[in-house]
Amino acid sequence: MNTVELITRKRDGGELTREELHYLVQGFTEGSIPDYQMSAFLMAVYYQGMNRDETVWLTQEMKESGDIADLSKVRGIKIDKHSTGGVGDKTTLIVGPLAAACGVPVAKMSGRGLGFTGGTVDKLEAIPGFKTTLPEEEFFELVNNSGIAVIGQTAHIAPADKKIYALRDVTATVENLSLITSSIMSKKLASGSDGILLDVKCGSGAFMKSEEDARRLAEMMVEIGKADGKKMMAVITDMNQPLGNAVGNALEVREAIEVLQGKGPSDITELSVELAGRMIWLGGCAATPAEGVAKAGQALTSGSGLQKFREFVSGQGGDPAVADDLSLLPLSSCSKEILADRSGYICGIDAMTIGLASQHTGAGRQTKEDAIDHGAGILLHHKAGDRVEAGEALMTLYSDEVSKLESASLEAAKAVQIGDQAPELPNLIHGVVE
Ligand code: URA
Repeated sequence: MNTVELITRKRDGGELTREELHYLVQGFTEGSIPDYQMSAFLMAVYYQGMNRDETVWLTQEMKESGDIADLSKVRGIKIDKHSTGGVGDKTTLIVGPLAAACGVPVAKMSGRGLGFTGGTVDKLEAIPGFKTTLPEEEFFELVNNSGIAVIGQTAHIAPADKKIYALRDVTATVENLSLITSSIMSKKLASGSDGILLDVKCGSGAFMKSEEDARRLAEMMVEIGKADGKKMMAVITDMNQPLGNAVGNALEVREAIEVLQGKGPSDITELSVELAGRMIWLGGCAATPAEGVAKAGQALTSGSGLQKFREFVSGQGGDPAVADDLSLLPLSSCSKEILADRSGYICGIDAMTIGLASQHTGAGRQTKEDAIDHGAGILLHHKAGDRVEAGEALMTLYSDEVSKLESASLEAAKAVQIGDQAPELPNLIHGVVE
């Protein structure tokens, strides 16, 4: 096969066969196809798209580029949950313990932050002592004994995605439906669960900006998962402003604990209960999604979700006392407040701008080699719809470096729009795809 001929065909709007996609994925993963040819191919896909069959084949080829996890040693119906990436999205830290407290085994492999979006593994590593790498047998044992374990995804799961994503990230080819579908679903299908709940984000802080695109992405991922024999559901949720008030690793762990204590912000609490409820239903522990949501709500109010969080943290070497003493979590040494420059109503807080500003405090990586400042990030004191007075603090930024704080605060200040009228707020949940 000739790589240039395949790039040319896609560039001109043509279609590729499964064998041709196999050749490209395998060649790139092994190193016989160089970065510059794969970059050109990705840009051709970005502009021309892929049809359904090409997307299915690309997903399968990427899934088969590495190991397929065998979770058969974990008892019960294992349900995974995946968010397409957002700002302040710490739901896994809440939803996992709630679902596990209701009897659903959660054996989850998670990723690190990508660009302006955070990653569960980085958040968990903000907990003193928490290990995100465990031997396979220990991982299985933890899930069998306490119902939940979350580890970093190994390099052997969908290695093609790891290499292709790294290239997409630096060639402006992330935001394409087929490329996002194949990236997410190749990893999820290789992770060995029996079912997957997808949280497809839509809005300014998501890869899919419009509801229509988010729905198309959700439908494609659900279809591909079902074709692979998985129980599937996708919830399309709003990501126009950050979820909850905290953005940044330890700040988000703190807020997740507050939610499990019943003291968290209403948006993240509501969404977590909705997502956990659907996981409980997918896992066969509720007869309907509504019953699952009711059970998740009870796990929150009874404290059984918080108790499961303590077991989860201590099982992975972390200090479970963080669940009762938030001061045990790191917090960066320097802080700066951003004040309202006028009185009025907050009409919007642009999630992507806050995500980028948080990355610049040191909470996220600019390059994949960067170390993370776990105590850095942004705490919002107000959300869209709130009334504020001139001079009132809108948010506080945290960083270990004053220079980072200065540049991040200039950026973060641009995220907030204040107007005279109270805005109409979008629904948190835009729809469900089954
Ligand atoms: N998350 C992924 O894992 N891949 C994408 O392409 C986008 C979000």
